[in-house]
Amino acid sequence: MVLENVTKRFSNIIAVNDVSLKIEKQDFFTLLGPSGCGKTTTLRLIAGLEFPDEGNIYIAGKNVTMELPKNRNVAMVFQNYALYPHMTVRENIAYPLVVRKIPKREIDRKVAFVAQSLQISELLDRYPQQISGGQQQRVALARAVIQTPNVFLLDEPLSNLDAKLRIEARSFLKRLSMELGTSVIYVTHDQSEAMALSTKIAVMNQGRILQVGTPKEVYDKPMNTFVASFIGNPPMNIIDCLFVGTKCVLGDQIIDFSDLPLIDFPSKKAFIGIRPEHVTLDTKDGDLIGEIYVVEPLGFETIVTVSVNGKPLKVLVFEDVSFKSGDKIFVKFKRNKLHIFDENGVRIRRRDE
Ligand SMILES: Nc1ncnc2c1ncn2[C@@H]1O[C@H](COP(=O)(O)OP(=O)(O)OP(=O)(O)O)[C@@H](O)[C@H]1O
Ligand SMILES: [Mg+2]
Repeated sequence: MVLENVTKRFSNIIAVNDVSLKIEKQDFFTLLGPSGCGKTTTLRLIAGLEFPDEGNIYIAGKNVTMELPKNRNVAMVFQNYALYPHMTVRENIAYPLVVRKIPKREIDRKVAFVAQSLQISELLDRYPQQISGGQQQRVALARAVIQTPNVFLLDEPLSNLDAKLRIEARSFLKRLSMELGTSVIYVTHDQSEAMALSTKIAVMNQGRILQVGTPKEVYDKPMNTFVASFIGNPPMNIIDCLFVGTKCVLGDQIIDFSDLPLIDFPSKKAFIGIRPEHVTLDTKDGDLIGEIYVVEPLGFETIVTVSVNGKPLKVLVFEDVSFKSGDKIFVKFKRNKLHIFDENGVRIRRRDE
């Protein structure tokens, strides 16, 4: 599946702006980005529900840019999962196979399997209006995954499920996509879902793709401050600073970064990026001094917010925390996990990567 310089405008809005993507057969490819960034429009272009103003779309090697949806062999789950109201859940799920004249016994077997996997077996004889939103969403997902298309297009298919079901359905989807070997293009604004499911993530903002990479690549080497702060929970701390040579000035504090193997040091305004899991707290010394603002225990880990120069810095701690609000504290940044972004928010590469 290939998108080649695809642009889609709605009057004066550029919903999708010069997007190029290559999706391999085994990919679980996620479009990740904030509301309104163009994720659904991209899926609709691939499905043939919209046509691009510029660019080309290829599915299974064939240029389908102007083809109708029925000629593309894609299975799509819509953000607002449209089910057929006059059909039972069972008939809804079976429908794509019925129109393809698959033998009834095989249909029954497949429906039973997907219904069980998505925990909707008890609902098969009800009608869509007799089940909840989260249940309807799973029926829509079941109706898609029962098919054998060239590509699955899934638009936030788990958004209405509660946290527990969501994680179960996520494992099922990942396993299923591995077994089927069919590419999946998945849309979400939930970064943890994207990290957990994907072989590749494309981070989008304002119609553009900012970075494509494996979950590890976008987490370890975010190309700019937008990607850096979109991936990870709590998000990466992005700290304003000023560089003078290898010295980094933050208010009345200075960190010497001469041991940092940057290809180039910024000459003025810049940003330090450090994930909460890569900051440690110390009572004796560190890179910066601050004051404990608030401590939030989450069970396994604790989020500690430290106020440094009057700005919040999030720290993830995996041991018991005995600090309390108001305590003076030093923060120390793991040097090999530190990111420096230039004044435009673009990551400066390190010599050791
Ligand atoms: N039919 C349309 N007519 C006019 N503008 C549209 C239309 N569809 C989408 N847009 C605009 O295009 C942009 C991208 O919309 P899109 O639905 O692709 O976003 P999204 O990333 O899926 O957002 P969300 O996460 O909220 O679903 C938005 O600014 C939206 O308002
Ligand atoms: Mg959308």
